[in-house]
Amino acid sequence: MTRKKKYIIEDQERLSQSKLWDLQRKYYEKVGVNAWRKRAVPHVITSNVFIADQYVQLVYAFLRDWESEIDKDHPVYLIELGTGSGRFSYHFMRRWLDRTEQFGDLDITFKFLLTDFTESNLKFWKTHPLMKEMVQKGIADFVLFDATQDTSLSLVNSGEILTVDTLVNPIIVVGNYLFDSIPVDIFYTENNQLSESLVLLESDYPEDHELISELLDSIHLSYNNQPIKNDYYDNPIYNQILENYRQEFKKTYFRFPVASLNCCANLQALSKNRMMLITADKGFTSLAAMDLLEPPQIAVHGSMSMMVNFDAFEQFFTLQDGRWFKIPFQPNDIGVHVGVLGSPKSDYSETAMTFYDTVTSYGADDYHALTVALHNHYADLTISQMLSLLRMSRWDSVLFEECFESLLMKVQETTDEVRADVRLALHHVWDNYYFIGEDKDIPFMIGAILHNIGSFQEAIILFNYSLQMHGMDPSTLYNMGMSYLYLGDTNQALGYIGKAADSGQFPKAVEAREKILAKLDETK
Ligand SMILES: C[S@@+](CC[C@H](N)C(=O)[O-])C[C@H]1O[C@@H](n2cnc3c(N)ncnc32)[C@H](O)[C@@H]1O
Repeated sequence: MTRKKKYIIEDQERLSQSKLWDLQRKYYEKVGVNAWRKRAVPHVITSNVFIADQYVQLVYAFLRDWESEIDKDHPVYLIELGTGSGRFSYHFMRRWLDRTEQFGDLDITFKFLLTDFTESNLKFWKTHPLMKEMVQKGIADFVLFDATQDTSLSLVNSGEILTVDTLVNPIIVVGNYLFDSIPVDIFYTENNQLSESLVLLESDYPEDHELISELLDSIHLSYNNQPIKNDYYDNPIYNQILENYRQEFKKTYFRFPVASLNCCANLQALSKNRMMLITADKGFTSLAAMDLLEPPQIAVHGSMSMMVNFDAFEQFFTLQDGRWFKIPFQPNDIGVHVGVLGSPKSDYSETAMTFYDTVTSYGADDYHALTVALHNHYADLTISQMLSLLRMSRWDSVLFEECFESLLMKVQETTDEVRADVRLALHHVWDNYYFIGEDKDIPFMIGAILHNIGSFQEAIILFNYSLQMHGMDPSTLYNMGMSYLYLGDTNQALGYIGKAADSGQFPKAVEAREKILAKLDETK
C-alpha cells in the first residue's frame, strides 16, 4: 500500500508521452554539470578509464572489420549520446590518441562527437581546457542532439552537418546510462493477451515544484491496462517484437523502449545501415528475466531512470540481420552490450572476438564490483598491490582517490625503486584526470604523495593546479611552502607558509613559520 498522494500529475497516459520526461529534461537543463559534480547522478561506473579502454578496443575491432570498405578520404564518426560531463569522452579520446600515436595501425580519420540535449552540458565542454585541446587536435566536436527525435547532426566547431546525404562511412554510437533515461511504454500481458498500461502519475508536490528531484522522488506510478490490437506502432519491427512478447511471456509488466529504438532506427538510416552501438546500462538481458514482473516504478537519483529492456534491442538488431553481443551472465550493476548492423566482408569476426576478450572475459561491471569490494581495504594492501590495481584501472583518478591515504602513508617507508614506480603512476593518473569541479582535490592528493617521495619540484606544480582548481586552501599553501623549504627556497617557503598561517585555520603553519624565522635568526 502506498501513502495517499496529494497531486495527480496525469492520468490515462502512455508512459512514453508522460510529463515525466519533461521533468527529466528540466532537471538536466537546470543542474547542468552539477549532476555529476556532486555525484547526484551515478556515473563513476560508466566514466572511468577502464571502460573507455574497452570501448576503444571494441571500436578498433569494428573499424578493422570494415577497414577495406571505409572511404579514407572521409572521417569515421563516433556519436556519443547523452554525454553528460564529458569524462568518458575524454578518457576515450586520450586512449584512442595514445593507441593510434603508438601503433599507427589504423589509417582512418576519426572524430568523436560529444552530444547531449541540454545546452548547459555543451557550454561546459566548450570551456573545458582539456576539451579545447581535443578540439584543436581535430578529434572532438560537439553537437546539440536530442536522441529521441533528431535525425541529423550539426557540428558546433567544424560547421559540418551530417545527414544521410553527407555521411560517407559507417558510424559508431555510444549510449551510456542514456537508454534508461528516455521514454518507454509499458505493457501488460497475461494468457497471451496484450494490453497497454496507461499511467496514473501521483505525487506529493505540484508539477511546477521548484526542486525537481524532490518531486520525482515523490512520484508514484500506477497503471490501467487496456487491451490492444495488432499494429500498435507504425513500425512493423516493433510490432513483431510485441507479438513475440505476447507469445513468450506467461504474465508480466514489461517496458518497451520506444524512444531508444526510434533513436537506433534514425541513426541506422543516417548510416545507411552500417553502424555499431555500444551501450552500458542497468537492464534486463534476457526474456526470462522480464517474465512475472510487477508494475514498474522509476528510480530517482537526482534525475530518474528505469531498467532497460535490452532484449528488445537484441530483437531490433537481429530481426534486421544485425548481431547483438551480450554477456552470458547477470551483471552486478550494469551490462555492456554491442549491436551491429550491416554486412562487412569480415562478418564481424574482429568485433566478436574483442567483445569476448573484453566485456565477456572481464568487463566494466567486474572492474566496478572489485573496486567496491576493496573500498575500506586499501590500508591492508602493499604499494605494489595498489600499483597493480591502478595499472588495471588504466590509471583512473577515482581508484587513485581510494588508494590515496594508504599510498601517502606507505611511500614514506619504501625503497627508491618503488618510489620511482609510484612517481610514474602519479604522472599517469594526472595525465588522465578530467576535472569536473568536484570537491575531491586530486591535484592536492597527487602533490602530497610527490612531496612524500621527495619530488618537491613536481609537487609544487600539482599544488599550483590544486590552488587554481579548488581555490586558496591553507593546507595546500602550507604543503607548497614545505616543498619549497625542502628545495632550499626559504623565501618562497615563508611566503606560502605565512599565507597559511595568516588564514588562522592552520596552526601547523604558525609553528612552521616560527621555526623558519628562528632558524633564520640563528644564521644571521
Ligand atoms: C544519466 S546521464 C548519463 C551521462 C553519461 N553518459 C554517463 O554515463 O554518466 C543521462 C544523460 O543523457 C542526457 N539526456 C537525457 N535525455 C536525453 C535525450 N532525449 N537526448 C539526448 N540526451 C539526453 C542528459 O542530459 C544526461 O547528460
